[in-house]
Amino acid sequence: SHRPRLTAMRPGRGSTAFLHDLPGVFMQIQFFDANSAPALRLCARVLNEGVVPADLEPQLAEAARMARFSGKAGQLFEGFAERGGQLVRVALAGLGKPDAPDRAAAIEKAGAGLVAKYLTSGEEAMLVDLTGAGLSANEAADLLLGARLRGWRHDVYRTKLPDDRKPTLKRIAVLGAPEGTRDAWAAQEAVAAGTEFTRELVTEPANAIYPESFVERCRARMGGTGLSLRVLDREEMAALGMGALLGVAQGSAREPRMLVMEWNGGTAGDAPLALVGKGVTFDTGGISIKPAAGMEDMKWDMGGAGAVAGAMLALALRGAKANVVGVCGLVENMPDGTAQRPGDVVTSMSGQTIEVINTDAEGRLVLCDALTWVQREYAPRAIVDLATLTGAIIVSLGHEYAGMFASDDDLANRLDAAGKASGDRLWRFPLGPAYDKLLESAIADMKNVGPRFGGSITAAQFLQRYVDKGTPWAHLDIAGTVWADKPGATWDKGATGFGVRLLDRLVRDNY
Ligand code: BES
Ligand code: MN
Ligand code: ZN
Repeated sequence: SHRPRLTAMRPGRGSTAFLHDLPGVFMQIQFFDANSAPALRLCARVLNEGVVPADLEPQLAEAARMARFSGKAGQLFEGFAERGGQLVRVALAGLGKPDAPDRAAAIEKAGAGLVAKYLTSGEEAMLVDLTGAGLSANEAADLLLGARLRGWRHDVYRTKLPDDRKPTLKRIAVLGAPEGTRDAWAAQEAVAAGTEFTRELVTEPANAIYPESFVERCRARMGGTGLSLRVLDREEMAALGMGALLGVAQGSAREPRMLVMEWNGGTAGDAPLALVGKGVTFDTGGISIKPAAGMEDMKWDMGGAGAVAGAMLALALRGAKANVVGVCGLVENMPDGTAQRPGDVVTSMSGQTIEVINTDAEGRLVLCDALTWVQREYAPRAIVDLATLTGAIIVSLGHEYAGMFASDDDLANRLDAAGKASGDRLWRFPLGPAYDKLLESAIADMKNVGPRFGGSITAAQFLQRYVDKGTPWAHLDIAGTVWADKPGATWDKGATGFGVRLLDRLVRDNY
């Protein structure tokens, strides 16, 4: 593979020559102390609200005041100063008040904002001076995470990018980092790499990423990390009776796959946490075909599987002390002479039969067999599934929160806390027998769709029918948060990498 391993990008060991050969442009972050810091033409400072550092040039401080910069969260000021006989660009980024409730987000945003501003500025390197900002090591690492994530791009298909729109910023030199920042950054760097991998998988079009190539990308990226991969093909899945997943795949020329990634960083023999992802590499809707407008979005219908793969990569790269298994159900949903029809009845691996009323409600058909398989194979201590499952969740929550459905309050609370801490926010929805009843079929054990209203909930009810009582389970409907039509705090337009930071935080704090 042409993809260098993470170690090749660690501070001090890498060269910058290969950076633009990568699908994403990775920001290199290096630490310096005051006497070894390079003299750069772009210097940034992060400031708390209302605090002007005593060592800032008076004219710069005055200019910032004139521009109404006061260090509020999200504020960015650019000025110039003469230092050592050279004109340098000096950027000031606001952190807001130290006791603000959303301090973590503000810190990350400051790092991200600096990179967004200078990514295509012509500058190749930026000095970020954290002196006097009063950040903890974890906060400093969060600032760098924001910076690194905001610098990710996917330009592999652009052959005509004009010079002044090409990203130039490749290196961040950090000065004045508090004690312990290097260690904190080592973990966050793993999370960044996982998030970037998810973004890459989500961004690639469906002629590049299909079940087999999804597996191959994972193999290439995960080699040498300590993750062990298992792959099930069509025949193996047929032998296991996965009629629901295979029914979705049967209209496609692409072979389906089930990808299993094992990370055993915890006590040997302890039941793992299971992460299960919907990996529909393209969703046309099948015979219940979708309208043409916007159908290209359905290349990211594998966002759940992408998040699971990225999270597993992050856990392995940071050496998480936990046992976690990631399962991706990978299929393409196409209409064809061989495709399944509305009204077909399929038998899932669990033995339960399903009347396929709508072939576009395919994600749940893929997930139900993956859920059954992971429970039989691993008897996990808990299951979290992630899926771009319903358009209805976007109607409910827009693009700010993902929907959470949980059989277990403890797991729900842990996920909620991880969501708040990581910025991948979740909003819990109800489950209950009245919703479950809406899936009753006249011919089989259940239909794959309920009535029009409450569509995200009936989708979750369907999945719950495949989870053993006693196994804590949560389903995250991430249809609204995988892809962004406008830039956010830590991403440009496009793939957000949603789920990686959430799952990493869930594992860090609970498992
Ligand atoms: N992948 C879609 C859900 C989706 C829609 C994600 C729009 C992102 C944006 C899913 O497979 C689907 O088609 N769901 C249907 C379910 C319906 C047929 C019950 C939907 O939401 O319309
Ligand atoms: Mn669909
Ligand atoms: Zn889908």
